[in-house]
Amino acid sequence: MEEIVKINTKNTTLLLKINDKVDLIYYGEKIYDEKDYSFLGQDIALRKCSSADDIDATPSIISFVGDGNNRETSVHIVDGFGNASLGFKVNRYYFTNEHLKMNGLPTAYGNEKFFVIEFKSSISKITLKKYFGFFDDCDVLTTGIIVENEGDANIFVRRLMSMQLDLIQGEYEIISLSGSWCNETNINRTELSKGVYSFGSYLGLSSNVHNPFFMIKNKSDNSCIASNLIYSGNHKEIFEKTELSGIRVMSGINDYLLNYEVLPNCSFASPESVFVCGNSEEETSEKMRDFVLKHIINPNFTNKERPIIFNSWEGLGFDINNKSIANLATVAKEIGIEVFVIDDGWFGGRNDDTSSLGDWYENEEKFNGKFCETAKLIKENGLKFGLWFEPEMVSINSEFYQNHSDYAMTIDGLTPIEIRNQIVLDITKEEVQNHLIESLSKNIEKYGIDYIKWDCNRGLTEIRKSGSYFYDYTVSLYKILDTITKKYPNIIMEGCASGGNRFDLGTLCYFSQIWASDNTDPLVRVDTQRGLFLGYPQVSATSHVAVSPNPHTMRKYKISDRFAISAVTNLGYELNLNNLSKSELEEIKTYNEFYKRYRKVLQFGNITTSYENHNDKRIIFTSVSKEKDLAVSVAVDLRCVFARIYDRVYINGLQDNYVYKVNSVFSDKVNNLEVTGKSIRKCGIYVGNFFTVDSATEYNDFLATEIFVFTKIGEV
Ligand code: GLA
Repeated sequence: MEEIVKINTKNTTLLLKINDKVDLIYYGEKIYDEKDYSFLGQDIALRKCSSADDIDATPSIISFVGDGNNRETSVHIVDGFGNASLGFKVNRYYFTNEHLKMNGLPTAYGNEKFFVIEFKSSISKITLKKYFGFFDDCDVLTTGIIVENEGDANIFVRRLMSMQLDLIQGEYEIISLSGSWCNETNINRTELSKGVYSFGSYLGLSSNVHNPFFMIKNKSDNSCIASNLIYSGNHKEIFEKTELSGIRVMSGINDYLLNYEVLPNCSFASPESVFVCGNSEEETSEKMRDFVLKHIINPNFTNKERPIIFNSWEGLGFDINNKSIANLATVAKEIGIEVFVIDDGWFGGRNDDTSSLGDWYENEEKFNGKFCETAKLIKENGLKFGLWFEPEMVSINSEFYQNHSDYAMTIDGLTPIEIRNQIVLDITKEEVQNHLIESLSKNIEKYGIDYIKWDCNRGLTEIRKSGSYFYDYTVSLYKILDTITKKYPNIIMEGCASGGNRFDLGTLCYFSQIWASDNTDPLVRVDTQRGLFLGYPQVSATSHVAVSPNPHTMRKYKISDRFAISAVTNLGYELNLNNLSKSELEEIKTYNEFYKRYRKVLQFGNITTSYENHNDKRIIFTSVSKEKDLAVSVAVDLRCVFARIYDRVYINGLQDNYVYKVNSVFSDKVNNLEVTGKSIRKCGIYVGNFFTVDSATEYNDFLATEIFVFTKIGEV
């Protein structure tokens, strides 16, 4: 048997030739049906090679140890006899509406169409199900592999990459997001040359070092493929370029230490991978963001506008009490904040970061036994109430650890490594999972919590069951999150891991938003945000207005500039409001009113990042509504350059034949201007630069912003 199978989405085609193996014939922009596909030269290419090279010359979507590949392979499984060459051959393939069993891993939702290729080992009773899910509306395909052990002996999964795409033509560039604490998601562009280029994470979190999202751009025609993984643990991306075969691209769970024992009649699921292609970086990004919005982010929040948050951390640190909180809550309400979050320090005996994680009950001493009343007061003030937790962690100096040291992940005879004075709970144990669910539920109900900031400030170091621990940890985390989010579907869950150390699609399946970075400096946030928007919608990230000078960089910024950068994502405040003057509070109040009026488009519009005036001197984030009747641009000058005669902003994404009323927000640079979308795109609007005399003297001149609003008033 041999058949060409075509998997179409609205604008893309994946063509597979299936006999006892699977060749990838084409992936890209949608093509018409052809009578036959021999014109692609697939078979001719094969005839030219020696048979030993066949497998290396043939692009595919899966590869096996021992199949003749001289490259990185996507599947490495060892059977009960120690064999790694298992002779996997296609047994059957079918389209189905049924979701496969994912063993507790989260998946994209909202599609009912799958294509499954079933492989069977020729020597052991092992079945592999390689599937593709298709999401027509965003052109996205998802893919992964399920391993089923149908024999009597245990088998071992050593590598199982969710996605493999072998690309044949062009010079490719990898666009990835790398960073570190306080410096997340910087855009990294890498030219591939012969050999293997790979990145991943190794401490059990998806990490801020290398985000699982990446794009691969074909430089000959600018077309792109974007990929991400629905997984929060160790991931790995591999790109191999060889003389004969173009580029092999793979993404999946990291095989570092992986040796997962699958018992008879049990299965192992790879995380679901997500990929999409488009004709340019911008188009491909847009499809990916749209997909994340519609098919990943916790569905209870798909279209829910995110509230403005006050968070106590940067302004007050551990120095919180009834009085300071009550005062702040009153001011917060007056200036239009909607959720009041008490961050670290509210529990156990926590006065600094050396104790009390695990003691998830109110800090009696700090709050004089009146924490409940404080929570009530906040709610009576008309604010929602939020609390910070770091459930996966425990301080050795805590009551909980004294009673439950067996709940921690430790190894007999080895002193556990403390990072930020804390160690990790072994959440793979059912009793630990139950304890966390119970303790969180108790707090949620006792204080009427509306919002949880779920933090995770370190990775895993004590690896006991090495072959399976990283994977089991992640699946166990999902089990806890699944239970909590199902039990309390309206609670706003904000993910955090020292900022963006776990910013990924797995996290977003449960959380409505993620704290993108601990760095609140607007200049740094510009970089963090432009990186994130390559693969994540702005509503998935939060950014807060902090104090000036900024605590991380000591740079000074105007409130308007701090607001503008935060307003590009979900807005919040993280400074001591009691230290602000009346006029500063009034200013913030006006900004909050503006934000509420336009937050639907700011949070859910299609966001584009454009660069003007050469060398990134001006960056413009523009969010356009689906109907294109409203848009908000946050324009950022990164350098003050004088005498720019033609200093205009050009905005893409508006409707050419719509007439817009355009206004600037911080100044009267643009006042009720009436102009068509096409002129805005082609001719630009003269705006000068955004620096002012006070910004140059008082604010050190690091960055200056202006916001523009475009409202449709007619058509031509
Ligand atoms: C981490 C988070 C911060 C804050 C502190 C509290 O660093 O990223 O936002 O919550 O923990 O200890």
